[in-house]
Amino acid sequence: MKKTLIGTGVALTLMLSPFQQVFAAEPTTGELRQFDTVAHRGAAGYAPENTIAAFDKGLEMKADYIEIDVQRSKDGELVVIHDTTVDRTTDGTGRVGDLTLEELRSLDAGSFKGEQFAGEKIPTFKEILDRYHGKIGILIELKAPELYPGIEEAVAQELTERNLDKPQNDKIIIQSFNFESMKKMDALLPKVPIGVLTYSSLYTTDAALQEFAKYADLFNPSYGLVSKELVDKVHNLGMEIQSWTVRSPEAAQFLIDMKVDGIITDYPDYVDPRN
Ligand code: G3P
Ligand code: CA
Repeated sequence: MKKTLIGTGVALTLMLSPFQQVFAAEPTTGELRQFDTVAHRGAAGYAPENTIAAFDKGLEMKADYIEIDVQRSKDGELVVIHDTTVDRTTDGTGRVGDLTLEELRSLDAGSFKGEQFAGEKIPTFKEILDRYHGKIGILIELKAPELYPGIEEAVAQELTERNLDKPQNDKIIIQSFNFESMKKMDALLPKVPIGVLTYSSLYTTDAALQEFAKYADLFNPSYGLVSKELVDKVHNLGMEIQSWTVRSPEAAQFLIDMKVDGIITDYPDYVDPRN
């Protein structure tokens, strides 16, 4: 692994004196709870995905990370929305990249989930970084970056301006289904952990995993691909594994049993009943 994602337990152990370390066999915080809970698109089971309402819900539910999808408006602003059109989650129509920030911000991104969410807006990337960094980890997905040439540089600039490009700083991870984009992101921000996403068994072969390990720190498959064998292979290559998208307690338990490092879920309480 190029950049170490150090667990709380390990970190605490390293802070102990050699004498104390002899007695540190007892599980520490990180070892007791060995995986991170990631609120997918915010806690999208409870609030409209990729809105402040959903991210605040993830925070309130004590998730370790929120997961966000980043795209770019016609006039170059980074915005947080999943689909490449606004049709499903807002009262507008059209492609994200064909609409200006003003047009995107005028849309209602909440009512599709329930009238109580009317008026929620499509957030900007800047807004999410400023509101949440230091309070909760942010798993940043570049969604369809092939549609937005140069989006990697823009994301790198926003993170660097906020000092979020440093190791271990505020739990920032960048991931994408677009592997070339992640190679580029790794070159731009060598100290920020990079994840590759896949739902295809084409990319769980030994050869594919070895290639990913050259630039990625996390291999993040859909949960249908997960097995003990895959988790071991990913770990042996020095990467971590986060899996998605958990929408039932059974799926959460399966991934806990597989010993993944992170569980990406619309329902953080299915993963960790304390939430
Ligand atoms: O974080 C993993 C997950 O978000 C990938 O799928 O379609 O929900 O962006 P999707
Ligand atoms: Ca996503």
